[in-house]
Amino acid sequence: MRTPTAGVGATAVVVAAARAAENRRPDRLFHDPLAERFLAEACKQSTLEAVEVVRHPMEHYFAIRTRFFDDSLRRARAQGCRQVAVLGAGLDTRAFRLDWPPGTRVFEADLPEVFAFKEPVIEAAGAEPTCDRIVVATDLAADWEAALLRAGLDPGLPTAWLIEGVLCYLPDKADDGVLAGVTRLSAPGSRMAGEHVSHRVFTDPVARPMLDALESVGAPWLSGVEDIGAWLGASGWHSETVDLTDPAVHHGRITPVDRRRIAAGPTRGWIFQAWN
Ligand SMILES: C[S@@+](CC[C@H](N)C(=O)[O-])C[C@H]1O[C@@H](n2cnc3c(N)ncnc32)[C@H](O)[C@@H]1O
Repeated sequence: MRTPTAGVGATAVVVAAARAAENRRPDRLFHDPLAERFLAEACKQSTLEAVEVVRHPMEHYFAIRTRFFDDSLRRARAQGCRQVAVLGAGLDTRAFRLDWPPGTRVFEADLPEVFAFKEPVIEAAGAEPTCDRIVVATDLAADWEAALLRAGLDPGLPTAWLIEGVLCYLPDKADDGVLAGVTRLSAPGSRMAGEHVSHRVFTDPVARPMLDALESVGAPWLSGVEDIGAWLGASGWHSETVDLTDPAVHHGRITPVDRRRIAAGPTRGWIFQAWN
């Protein structure tokens, strides 16, 4: 088992570290004990200095984002969705942390090196999924659709897609490829929750230190879109974006100063939900 301390896989450790920190708070927004296990294992193998540079300024954002997507999946569950696909799953533990009705299948797709680290930690923790969890080692810039179908994803059933923190890492229009694939595999009644970045972030001086830190761990952001609603809409998805200054979303984790900065600054990215 090797910790992905460089390359895009390292970014999964960044998010797990943020979730572990959230898990230790008395007012935590979610319970994620496995995040602690991932972090402990990663720390055994490396000092994770570069990972920390990225995590520190983003910690509250990752917590807010995680809670928002938890709630989004709970809504899909309440509406009867029993097929979930998490693309770029990283060290996501929703297959263990959320209560899934019997018969729910949760597919997790990510690069093989991420699962080479993740699976032994889960096994050592003795954690049991609350659903039928299916791991799909695949590259979202290549033939991931076929891999999901081979793994048993049923395109005749509505799917709840989760695409959290991954589209920006995909090269050469592979973000468009993911959207096209998700659209093809989505039966009526499917929904998508995810995140993408704006083209503007690449020239934004405020974002530059974080982009540099990501480049230093070999995980540069490569893709962005001009307008998320238009991007999703062109593929037939109705969408809404999240307002981080909404108390129901930020749970008091973003300071009033930062909220004003977010409201006044350029759009750097979007958390979205979409329906077909
Ligand atoms: C920032 S992490 C987010 C992980 C997870 N969604 C979460 O929020 O915990 C980005 C993830 O995208 C995955 N990823 C990046 N490029 C990928 C690709 N081409 N194919 C599959 N997964 C990829 C990385 O391996 C990493 O696990």
